[in-house]
Amino acid sequence: MSKSISGFSKLSKSKKIDWIVDTYFSNNKNAKHILKQYWNSDDKLQQLHDEFIENTITNYYLPLGVAPNFLINNKLYTIPMAIEESSVVAAASKAAKFWMDRGGFKAEVLSTTKIGQVHFMFQGSFESLKNFFSTIKPKLIEDAKPITKNMEKRGGGIIDIELRDKSHNIEGYYQLHATFETLDAMGANFINSCLEQFAKTFKEEALVFKDFSESEKQIDVVMSILSNYVPECLVRAEVSCPVTDLTENDNMDADEFARKFVQAVNIAEAEPYRAVTHNKGIMNGIDAVVLATGNDFRAVEAGVHAYASKKGKYSSLTHASINDGVFKFWIEIPLALGTVGGLTSLHPLVKLALELLHKPTAKELMQIVAVAGLAQNFAALRSLTTTGIQEGHMKMHLMNILNQFEATNKEKELLVNHFKTHTVTHSAVVEAIEKIRA
Ligand code: MEV
Repeated sequence: MSKSISGFSKLSKSKKIDWIVDTYFSNNKNAKHILKQYWNSDDKLQQLHDEFIENTITNYYLPLGVAPNFLINNKLYTIPMAIEESSVVAAASKAAKFWMDRGGFKAEVLSTTKIGQVHFMFQGSFESLKNFFSTIKPKLIEDAKPITKNMEKRGGGIIDIELRDKSHNIEGYYQLHATFETLDAMGANFINSCLEQFAKTFKEEALVFKDFSESEKQIDVVMSILSNYVPECLVRAEVSCPVTDLTENDNMDADEFARKFVQAVNIAEAEPYRAVTHNKGIMNGIDAVVLATGNDFRAVEAGVHAYASKKGKYSSLTHASINDGVFKFWIEIPLALGTVGGLTSLHPLVKLALELLHKPTAKELMQIVAVAGLAQNFAALRSLTTTGIQEGHMKMHLMNILNQFEATNKEKELLVNHFKTHTVTHSAVVEAIEKIRA
């Protein structure tokens, strides 16, 4: 039976666990053991993880894998990926190797502008609000100097602040729409601090603005927050090769493969049901690298899917063409990433992942992440349009099924060997295990 508790966050970690176990697992003596099993034996490291969030009771592991052989702008990378889905790293590695032999990936950052908004209500004439805003704009920027001065020293900061009239959407609703350059930081804290300062100055100055009527002086700030929609923080990654170079063996006709591949992309461009799955496959690659490098995958997901709908209909994030016998496949996505700040200097595995990537700038990381998404999509479409997805997927899933049946190492060796030449299905694996055990 569930019960509520007050003051939970103030309990010690072991008292929190006792409460959880007594309340929810009174018949499961194992629950405490499982939670403790995932504690790190290094107390300092465990404390670091405990302090990332409130009410930590244990750690949640995900595998950290690597996909080698990514040639990006003529530089070789081994890409770290944190993900639980069995076939993702294998697919990325396969696509990396395929394109390494065909000139690799080309990637380019198109823009790096980030956005934040102060949403406020104003009752009065837009003309007098515009007049107030243009008078006060230099002070908005000046008052934020203590927050922006370090970022400015490095070449970033506030790019601009605009006043936007949104009263056609909601009566009395306006915005300060600000743009920022945050260099190697993802910039969420920097942007939010600037916005909260803008809001404070804006409200205070309105109260003493002589051209405002009494009601106009009462600006009502609703909220100040960055936007995770970053269509001007864009990266593009691409692969291309002659169509004739597209196949690795004689079983597949290169022209037919290229044609089907482009058709598959066209379907995802035209059909939202397919586009969502197509883009999910892209995000398999993107999220795994975003997570491994300590970035905010929820922010990336939200921004990317909004971008996929930018024309008013959800569509593919990748595109493909065949022109004059040349196959081209590319992705263009918004990615607000950081390689300094946040978890990047705190989480030992994040630091390691960034070191593995040659300590990239945020722009380089944008390129690497976009490439991981493109590679993942290439691998998925290649399987989908040729063998079907299950062949590779089930091969990688085999180990999960064997573990479900608590197969010994010897049994695993025998069965992995057996399934090199047999189709993996759940029932075929069960049958094979039963046969061995009999
Ligand atoms: C599975 O995680 C991802 C795929 O469904 C992507 C796709 O269909 O393109 C294979």
